[in-house]
Amino acid sequence: MPRRLLVTSALPYANGAIHLGHLVEYIQTDIWVRFQRMRGHEVHYVCADDTHGTAIMLRAEKEGITPEQLIARVRDEHMHDFAGFHVGFDHYGSTHDAQTRAVVEDIYRKLRDDAKLITTRPVEQFFDPVKSLFLPDRFIKGTCPKCGAKNQYGDACEVCGSTYNPTDLIDPYSTVSGATPVRRSSEHWFFQLGRCEAFLRPFTQDVRADGTWFLEQPEARNKIREWFDAGLADWDISRDAPYFGFEIPDAPGKYFYVWLDAPIGYLGSFRHLCDRDGGPDFADFTDPQRAQAAGTELVHFIGKDILYFHALFWPATLHFAGYRPPTHVYAHGFLTVNGEKMSKSRGTFITARSWLDLGLDPEWLRYYYAAKLNASMEDIDLNLDDFVARVNSDLVGKFVNIASRSAKFVVERFDGVLADVPASQWPDDLPPRTELLEQIARHYDARDFGKAMRDIMAVADTFNAQVDRVAPWVLAKAPGEAVRLHQACSQFLDGFRFLAVALSPVLPALAARAGAFLNDPSMQRWEAAERPLPAGHRINTYEHLMTRVDPKRIAALVDANRDNLQPAAPAAVAAPSTPEPAVVTDTAPATPVPGDAPSAVAPVAPTISIDDFAKIDLRVARVAEAHAVDGADKLVKLILDVGSEQRQVFAGIKAHYTPEALVGRHVVMVANLAPRKMRFGESQGMVLAASFDGGGGVFLLDLDPGAAPGMRVK
Ligand code: 2FM
Ligand code: ZN
Repeated sequence: MPRRLLVTSALPYANGAIHLGHLVEYIQTDIWVRFQRMRGHEVHYVCADDTHGTAIMLRAEKEGITPEQLIARVRDEHMHDFAGFHVGFDHYGSTHDAQTRAVVEDIYRKLRDDAKLITTRPVEQFFDPVKSLFLPDRFIKGTCPKCGAKNQYGDACEVCGSTYNPTDLIDPYSTVSGATPVRRSSEHWFFQLGRCEAFLRPFTQDVRADGTWFLEQPEARNKIREWFDAGLADWDISRDAPYFGFEIPDAPGKYFYVWLDAPIGYLGSFRHLCDRDGGPDFADFTDPQRAQAAGTELVHFIGKDILYFHALFWPATLHFAGYRPPTHVYAHGFLTVNGEKMSKSRGTFITARSWLDLGLDPEWLRYYYAAKLNASMEDIDLNLDDFVARVNSDLVGKFVNIASRSAKFVVERFDGVLADVPASQWPDDLPPRTELLEQIARHYDARDFGKAMRDIMAVADTFNAQVDRVAPWVLAKAPGEAVRLHQACSQFLDGFRFLAVALSPVLPALAARAGAFLNDPSMQRWEAAERPLPAGHRINTYEHLMTRVDPKRIAALVDANRDNLQPAAPAAVAAPSTPEPAVVTDTAPATPVPGDAPSAVAPVAPTISIDDFAKIDLRVARVAEAHAVDGADKLVKLILDVGSEQRQVFAGIKAHYTPEALVGRHVVMVANLAPRKMRFGESQGMVLAASFDGGGGVFLLDLDPGAAPGMRVK
């Protein structure tokens, strides 16, 4: 019976760039979804940007745009990043859209009017009297009440590790305005989670009649049990204006807390799919009776840090609002890079965009993550040396190598036509073909991708050993060996095809290229690997399938992600982006803080086309004015005359040039760089200079006499 699945990954916040930590989850889910589809199951895979909250409101304000403009821009960036890594959502929505709002209001009204689980009471919180804003904990800093460390956040001390309430801080201040916050009381709306325990305990702790669990991971069930034991508190679901979100019906000035509407965004996004012609039926996946009759499943992939929301609040809100609760929640661990937390100063806080912009193959990462992932909540480590070694050895040295060593003989000597490969002809030292295929399928289904990759690579090893033994390149020169050569190479290509099918969920683009080379559209289905292609099938010319990872390119990636506020001087003296105060999200790191933008010229940059180069508008400019910038250690403010107009540019060259020395000289500037708002004003371009990556001197480019402002540099 085909399964009918609605699958989600957690919604990323709309104020941060997608990084390799996020990608663990999206790649994990996408592999699982692709696998289920190859097996013939119906799968709808949706996600959305998580757009609401104080952090997003303040970020937009700082950028001088509306929250709507900010979330539209970030959604676009996120969608590009996901597409670049072949994460194939059926719909990518936004929690701010009308579809989500409709479900939010419906769920809320049912909780309030039918289930009677909404209550209100006053809450005292810190309030910023300058911004007229209630302050979330992360926007308050002060002195730790336990150890006396200064500048600690309102919820926990990074020095001594203790947790506390923001009202316990000594000398608190608002990170938004710097003002001393005052205590103020206001009415808040609560969801009475404590009253849901009789439903939640068996729902989260008991095995179902069909032998499945809501939480298949025992460590997740244990975690939830601890929370029951500690007692379930009512959940504060309202925030006071000003707040970017949905206003609570019949409660003017009160907004739904971002975490109330975030998971509802899954359903809002799904609604878009349902509204398409021929789309799935919403009620089949959301109404308890209809879902039961239709046998549909609702499956969430999340990080372990948001288990509480997905395993307690979310099933309770759904169930008591008359919606079907999730079938499964699968939590994964965090990503470390080289054994440590991702770090901007080490350059290991790697954005998806930098990976793609440097022309690195997204499937290298997909494979590495697959090889590391299992069904547990353990953290996974991206060791960059191991990454290079493993991808080169497994994908290039083993998998692709089988095809590259046998295809050309079939094409050149036998006109691309395959010899007969009996289904029974399968290496003796491997488990029987269909049995092995099923074993790999079980690993995928159980999210034990690491085991699946190990089984797959064992097949690749066996076939490579056969290629070595038979040595087609020797047979090809031996007289009278044409039949053996034909059979052997056809058999090796059958092994390669088996591997391509089995790797398809992980390497969809490579598998598609393999399918095109083998001229075999059936490879999109898992069963295609059960038997060889028939004798007489004609394949196409082999084209190079994957390049090796050059360790220098990984070094360049790390360089490009290294925080450029660290001691090393930037190579190109682009104005750094605005220094920001604190990171302002609950769990996600803030978006481009200085250093997210590639700062240093990479030792090995990817090749670009002449068209790419032509996009850069390089102009000669004359420095009309140069000023030191108060409060900035590295910046000089330049007024540049570009012929037709004047531009203001902030350049990080103060350590190397005095303002007086700059006035009157000609420089080369990037004239079509998007303007950047900085603390000191807008920077409207970038001045080019030379330096070594590791620091040292910075040298502005010189121009021969005759170069005049406005001339194009090409
Ligand atoms: O932790 C986060 O990044 C949240 N934006 C995840 C939300 S997932 C779901 F509930 F919407
Ligand atoms: Zn402390």
